[in-house]
Amino acid sequence: MKRKNFIHTLGATTLGALAIRPILGNAENLSDSNDNSFTNIAPPKSPYTLPKTGTSNAPHNEAYWSVIAKNFKKPEGFINLENGYFSHQPQSTLSAHIQGEDTINTQSSYFMRTAQTQSIEIARNAFAGFQGLMSDEVAFTRNTTESLNTIIMGTNWQLNDEVIIGDQDYGSMVEAFEQASARWGIIIKIAQVPKDPHADLEIVQAYTKLITPQTRMLHLTHMINLSGQLIPVQAITRKAKEIQPKITVVVDAAHSLAHTPTDMSDLVNAGVDVIGGSLHKWLCNPIGVGFLYMNRKLIPKVWPLMGDTGVEKNNIRKFEHQGTRPIHSLQTISKAIEFHRAIGISPKYNRLTYLKLLWIGNKQALETYAKSLGFHTDPKFKAQMEAVTDLTLLDAFKLQSPLFHFHRGGAIATAYVNGYSPVELAQTLMNKHKIFTVGIDHPVIKGIRVTPHLSNSVEDCIALNKVITAICVDLIPHLEPMK
Ligand SMILES: Cc1ncc(COP(=O)(O)O)c(C=O)c1O
Repeated sequence: MKRKNFIHTLGATTLGALAIRPILGNAENLSDSNDNSFTNIAPPKSPYTLPKTGTSNAPHNEAYWSVIAKNFKKPEGFINLENGYFSHQPQSTLSAHIQGEDTINTQSSYFMRTAQTQSIEIARNAFAGFQGLMSDEVAFTRNTTESLNTIIMGTNWQLNDEVIIGDQDYGSMVEAFEQASARWGIIIKIAQVPKDPHADLEIVQAYTKLITPQTRMLHLTHMINLSGQLIPVQAITRKAKEIQPKITVVVDAAHSLAHTPTDMSDLVNAGVDVIGGSLHKWLCNPIGVGFLYMNRKLIPKVWPLMGDTGVEKNNIRKFEHQGTRPIHSLQTISKAIEFHRAIGISPKYNRLTYLKLLWIGNKQALETYAKSLGFHTDPKFKAQMEAVTDLTLLDAFKLQSPLFHFHRGGAIATAYVNGYSPVELAQTLMNKHKIFTVGIDHPVIKGIRVTPHLSNSVEDCIALNKVITAICVDLIPHLEPMK
């Protein structure tokens, strides 16, 4: 509960608030207290495990990455290669979360009325600092869906305003724009994003050629969840603003935050106006925390999703009105950042990219990647490469994701196998081989989406490669082959 809400509540009679008044004095003390002697603002320390100093963090070095993986509890009985939905937390973050919940559960509304606001501000500063953003342009939401609905539903649309979205944008955002279209008569234009273009310029043009004087908003999915393709948001934004400076550029960063080496401030510096993301994806925070970045000039012009007249129009906190919420999930943000930083974004991205390349098995891609990072002569790498089959050489296997442009994707890749619908293939992998993936059946991208994470091993990816090899070789097709 925010400060102003508490004062409203008092005015409206809350017995609970009046009951603790004698202990703490007046209402201001309750709502604005900096005295945390009774509360536990920061969750207790719960260290994570790191490899011995000096162990190489090269992406193929299991001596390093198996220690990182031990921080996560893995499911028993199957290999989870579907980490794109959300990330599980390392045990250190999980235990901080549980301890934070325990504290709030014990102190109950006393915590909410005295320490909540400060906890949120600590989390805001931690997250903004982590991503190079200004705190007063960052709000916490429940997830990316809520963050982006805030701008899509909160814009003062005029009839026939045009928006440009991508043909592989996340379904909930497409639906939000469709609802805005039904409600306010905006026109949706859809960019056909090439699946594996030779040059970034092809993607830039796919969007910018649709800009007209009526274009008000450009919605970009930084990492496409269907295929893992990372699109050149900065280049698209710069070109779009050159053509139409008043355009509002909105970015869905659900999969790029804490996954790729791009900080959210890099996007802002290129001219992006609004970003939504989920901290429960690649930052490995508990479920239910998202962020909304909004350029300060835009804040007063956008309506919050939940009615909020108590916060000034130009205050980013007006977008945070959610009612009672799990503050311990915000308290863990600093823990999640700590774990992420202990590994480092580049080693993390390189490891995830390597695991993807390994299960796909394309030798040229693996060698080129290893060479670019200087581990191509290591016998351990050679052994891993020899353990996999190059799936891209098998007729039945159709990769749906970029392979050679290593800057154009991290962990996620999707592949179709002729003879299987995506769902059938995912079911076969799980039911027969105990490997969990997800079937994607989208008009543009079809196949099983495979998403390794830090908790996965080289062995997990080799196991998937072997199973898909067997499926492709023994194939009895019963569906139309995909060209
Ligand atoms: C590209 C993209 N955007 C948005 C979302 C929605 O995220 P959330 O469910 O955390 O709101 C997802 C979820 O997977 C996604 O992949």
